[in-house]
Amino acid sequence: MPDTDPLSSLEIIHPDHFATHGYPQEAWRRLRREAPVYRYEGWAPLAFWAITRHREIAQVSCQPGLFASGPRTEIVAAADAPQVHGLITMDPPEHARFRQIVIERFTPRALGRLRVQVDEVARQVLDDLFARSAEGKCDFVSAVAEPFPVAVIAWMLGVPSEDWPLVRRWTNEVVGALDPEFHRGGESAQATQARAINEMHSYLSDLLRKRRSDPQDDLLSFLAHARPEGGPVPEHEILAFAVLLMIAGNETTRNATSGGLVAFLEHPGEWQRLRRDASLLPSAVEEVLRWTSPVVHFARTATADVELGGQKIRAGDALALFYASANRDEEVHHEPFAFRVDRRPNRHLAFGVGEHVCLGAHVARLELRAILAELLRRLDHCELAGPVVRLRSSTVGGLKSVPVRYRLRPA
Ligand code: HEM
Repeated sequence: MPDTDPLSSLEIIHPDHFATHGYPQEAWRRLRREAPVYRYEGWAPLAFWAITRHREIAQVSCQPGLFASGPRTEIVAAADAPQVHGLITMDPPEHARFRQIVIERFTPRALGRLRVQVDEVARQVLDDLFARSAEGKCDFVSAVAEPFPVAVIAWMLGVPSEDWPLVRRWTNEVVGALDPEFHRGGESAQATQARAINEMHSYLSDLLRKRRSDPQDDLLSFLAHARPEGGPVPEHEILAFAVLLMIAGNETTRNATSGGLVAFLEHPGEWQRLRRDASLLPSAVEEVLRWTSPVVHFARTATADVELGGQKIRAGDALALFYASANRDEEVHHEPFAFRVDRRPNRHLAFGVGEHVCLGAHVARLELRAILAELLRRLDHCELAGPVVRLRSSTVGGLKSVPVRYRLRPA
């Protein structure tokens, strides 16, 4: 679209656009340059402020009293479907109180044992593919990117491995509710999402009951027996948190993994560099996160009249924080449209920033490091074998399918 067209005609949020074209990077680039805090009225159900620069996204995210998460976390939701409540929709002071309870399970130190498990799951996922066929064609998403984070998060929560396929189906149905592929028997998007959340709830509620009487070394047992202020954590809070983890911990990492593979296929020189120099792995992980930006946006609602980037925001107005745009912000990233495994510094906002910054960031980094390391060791050959298929969502930017032709080495 030429730069002379009015900003109001830009397409920045419609899920159809994401399904057919991917991220609207050109439109976001124009907004960053011409109107970084822009009142967008092109989405009929809800006018909102599009925040496209790193600077203002950080300002908003660091003032949770003024910009609340409670009313809504996304602009385009399946209408009337229950939101996924929990930590991510809590506001001060409730938010800090709950985050304090769980944070000790998510620090790099606490996750030491998880590292071994994550490496093993990464190896197992590639072993499974190898066992099916050492070479040939597969869908990288369903063979590798999808089962991998499901296994990790389910293991953290204490879900037995025979039930991991259930977790996989429910998370697809909640995050992909707007995508007809995930509707069962003619269900609407709302019905799909509501049913999946209810099924997850009742499954976890049964598991929680078991862990109360027979605790294991897992998150559900930890929460079942925690006494943060002398009393137990209410059951509804534990369940909401577990459901949130299953969703937040799966779809995002899956899309960073599959999007990362596609980035390397499009930049084979960067793959070769990483192969030659494994010390680049940590910066490569950060670059994959910046490049893929699996969370497109999360929303906030202003709690009072406030000025932001020279614009007057009114109490009750919705704001969309476009992390995926901030990750191409020319003010912050040198040559933002170049994919470089040695990029340093890399101040990406893939995990958000401020009050709600991703609780699972260390887990996600462990996962991406493990799967990249395993692919570097074992992937002899890989090329796209057909068009990638994108998810119809402008909240979590997903790849539903990445067909590849591959050749793998044994472990
Ligand atoms: C590449 C992977 C991931 C990405 C890109 C990602 C992205 C994000 C973002 C942008 C937020 C901020 C939400 C906001 O400000 O409103 C967030 C929050 C959160 N993430 Fe992640 N995430 C990833 C992986 C994970 C994993 C693996 C887990 C769990 C093990 C997780 C659990 C959470 C939770 C619980 C929150 C809410 C934190 C709060 O409200 O205080 N995420 N994530």
